[in-house]
Amino acid sequence: MDALETDLAAQLAHTLQQTNFANLGTLYRGKVRDVYRQGDRLILVTTDRVSAFDVVLGTIPHKGQILNAMAKVGFETTQDIVKNHVLSIPDPNVVVATRCEAYPIEFVVRGYITGSLWRDYERGAAGAYGISLPSSLRKDQAFRAPILTPTTKAQHGHDQPISMAAIVEQGLMSAQALEEASAVALALFERGQAHAASHGLILVDTKYELGLDTEGTLRVIDEIHTPDCSRYWMADTYAERFERGEAQAMLDKENLRAWLIDTHGYRGDGPPPALTDEIRLLLTRRYMDAHLRLTGHAFKPEVQDVGARLAKNLENAGLFAS
Ligand SMILES: Nc1ncnc2c1ncn2[C@@H]1O[C@H](COP(=O)(O)OP(=O)(O)O)[C@@H](O)[C@H]1O
Ligand SMILES: [Mg+2]
Repeated sequence: MDALETDLAAQLAHTLQQTNFANLGTLYRGKVRDVYRQGDRLILVTTDRVSAFDVVLGTIPHKGQILNAMAKVGFETTQDIVKNHVLSIPDPNVVVATRCEAYPIEFVVRGYITGSLWRDYERGAAGAYGISLPSSLRKDQAFRAPILTPTTKAQHGHDQPISMAAIVEQGLMSAQALEEASAVALALFERGQAHAASHGLILVDTKYELGLDTEGTLRVIDEIHTPDCSRYWMADTYAERFERGEAQAMLDKENLRAWLIDTHGYRGDGPPPALTDEIRLLLTRRYMDAHLRLTGHAFKPEVQDVGARLAKNLENAGLFAS
């Protein structure tokens, strides 16, 4: 083992599984984030939890910190397009954010036909989004222009496809708000694709959450352009692999999904298999690789008790109620 491998292995025992701060605000525990509400602001703690098929499977060393760093870059490189929710980053795993009334829609933007949309298209079921696609697309083919395939945010279980017309008809958003949000999502995607391209990657598809702050200003919230909410492919091998009908080289959670499906036949039903240290460390490597590619510099892992560091930084930032 080299020094890096030894350090990564040592961190297996120190991952941030969850937090339980009593005086940080009202806690909502998402799949990946522990979200504390303090009036108009949120303290979002990105833990090391990893999920696939909407199921939390365990923790990956350094994942929370890497994800938070990548979201920071995503927000910084898009702030001229739309305001975002970031107020401060008092710890590598934390964002203090403006709390928004989130639209009940996930704005999924896709540049290519792949994943779940490809599976729907193959069985003639891509109509749920209310858009008609050309009839002879091939798997992983680029659309002439990116498309929006919104889903409703399910409280429980999986998100459901919805058409733009249905969003308005069901009163989920006004036509005007939807138009504005859609334009923002597409503009963000264009920027995300350009950023990815300048780093040798293709931003294939991603998901945005948008909402209004107490002043009624539109903001992009949650996380953006991270490998958790996006699919990235390696740009240099795209064309060749596409021509040959081969799977694309991925930079995202598909790695974990592939491990779950191929090794364990697991697709989200029943009790999930336990993650081995081997797959956990492999995923740390993938997240580190993603960090290097998307931020332009290497992630420097430190062996440390993330929870203890976090508590100290939150304390120093004066975020606990006294
Ligand atoms: N600025 C914000 N205002 C309101 N809600 C937010 C904001 N940023 C993120 N959220 C919500 O906080 C949660 C983040 O936790 P996460 O673990 O990602 O949850 P999930 O399991 O729903 O993906 C999500 O429900 C997201 O919609
Ligand atoms: Mg989330």
